[in-house]
Amino acid sequence: MELKGKKIIVTGSARGMGESTLRAYVRAGADVIGMDVTDDAGSKIVDEANTEGPGTAAYLHVDIADKDSVGKAFSEALSILGKLDALAHPAAIQRSSDAGNVSVEDWDQMFAINVRGTMLTNQAAHGYMKDSGGGSIINFGSISGLRSEPSAIAYSAAKGAVHSWTRTAAGTWGKDNIRVNAILPAMATPMYLEAMERADEEQRTASYWMNRRSIALGEEYGDPDTDLAPVMIFFASDASRFITGQLIPVDGGQTSVR
Ligand SMILES: NC(=O)c1ccc[n+]([C@@H]2O[C@H](COP(=O)([O-])OP(=O)(O)OC[C@H]3O[C@@H](n4cnc5c(N)ncnc54)[C@H](O)[C@@H]3O)[C@@H](O)[C@H]2O)c1
Repeated sequence: MELKGKKIIVTGSARGMGESTLRAYVRAGADVIGMDVTDDAGSKIVDEANTEGPGTAAYLHVDIADKDSVGKAFSEALSILGKLDALAHPAAIQRSSDAGNVSVEDWDQMFAINVRGTMLTNQAAHGYMKDSGGGSIINFGSISGLRSEPSAIAYSAAKGAVHSWTRTAAGTWGKDNIRVNAILPAMATPMYLEAMERADEEQRTASYWMNRRSIALGEEYGDPDTDLAPVMIFFASDASRFITGQLIPVDGGQTSVR
């Protein structure tokens, strides 16, 4: 599971699982470009990662929903890295809304960032990887895309689309030796903690029974540094060279035992 010399882009690197992934890749010896819309936090994290090494990190601004922004950021990243071995793509947003009340604005924003953003970043990565012998694309799905999600209909629908995209892209790009998988995590990150803060007591109780209750390993969301980062290293490394098109829950058993 060596990452020494690997050239990797991580989206959503300013916090949460993207931050943990970037730090872990640098610790494993990779050269990494972190990308996000939150520039101050994104820059601070690469500065800290560089002081730890042994790999290197740099930060670039991207709005993954915007084709020009993705094209520019990936082009700059490739001029720094020289080639691309892996794309880790956790960047996304989450908004609550039920089926009867979801607005067109929320629906469109969720699909622009979570679905179009996956298409644009994956397409950009494919363009560079296919000319250099292949690579690994690691998308982020969700248990929300596998089951009914009454309080987050647009997020759920968007993550279902990410799953379908991941499987089809894997089938299409296997001939280029590019593998495409999606991680389905359950991690205590700012996204999760903010959703819990917004929830009232009744919603928190419902969330416990729907989510935490079925995390077989301790009924608690995982830690991105200890529970997710090693898996992200595996999927960026050659150790995962024969795995593609998979939806991989890293969730303490939640998806399977619910
Ligand atoms: N936290 C969980 O338990 C959980 C569960 C299921 C799925 N997921 C998925 O895992 C992934 C990572 O989640 P997280 O909890 O680390 O989220 P997070 O909110 O902590 O981090 C997401 C990052 O994406 C960035 N981002 C948002 N919009 C962007 C845009 N348009 N362009 C570029 N960057 C943008 C944010 O600035 C942020 O830094 C997401 O795809 C999420 O949907 C998370």
